[in-house]
Amino acid sequence: MAPLLAPFPPSIEASIPQLRGQLRPPRRSFSESFSGPPPAPPLPPEIAAHFSSLSIPPSEHAFLYSTLKQGGVSSPSAIASFPPAGLQQMLSARPPPSDAPPVDIHIVVPHHSSRFSLSAAPSSTILDAAASSPVLRELIAGSCGGNMSCSTCHVLLRDARQYERSLDACEPPHVLEEAELDMLELAAGYEEGVSRLGCQVRCSEGLQVELPEEVVDLWQ
Ligand code: FES
Repeated sequence: MAPLLAPFPPSIEASIPQLRGQLRPPRRSFSESFSGPPPAPPLPPEIAAHFSSLSIPPSEHAFLYSTLKQGGVSSPSAIASFPPAGLQQMLSARPPPSDAPPVDIHIVVPHHSSRFSLSAAPSSTILDAAASSPVLRELIAGSCGGNMSCSTCHVLLRDARQYERSLDACEPPHVLEEAELDMLELAAGYEEGVSRLGCQVRCSEGLQVELPEEVVDLWQ
């Protein structure tokens, strides 16, 4: 009986090992497979010493070094002249690891004379937190789904340090996006240096969020 599958022509047969090599990464040994990702390139000692002189804990050195390198700042002299405030902003703006524990945020609603706390994922926004909390969802509509075009997520961060810290994650840091500023300036009860759009503020431990009495829905 004739074979069901004809053999490959010799030219294709010869190239199969090469094709396999392109399609599949080389096999890792058992010990490689269980030893995790390959280690990061070592941090030059002068860069580690520079970070330490800025009181940056050693656990953060590798993150800063690789972030600077990705941004094209890699020589010791370029890193030494990088503004220390910029390094701190990189650390503050870094998204927390996905397995980080939830954070507690505190919601104040003066016009209802109420306050309550809830847990939120550390990388989530206040709007995300509202989506997973029936109580907060009643108070923050988020009509545009976080597109900075409705202002129904207007919040007040009365703690000046928390307000400043909320700006760390802006791009560029500490500069409100024009779209956010436009929305805030049209929002009822806008307060400069206090108001933010909740869809742009990342939850952090102890964040105090006041909700304004009146909300304008510019999406409608
Ligand atoms: S949800 Fe619409 S501006 Fe934030």
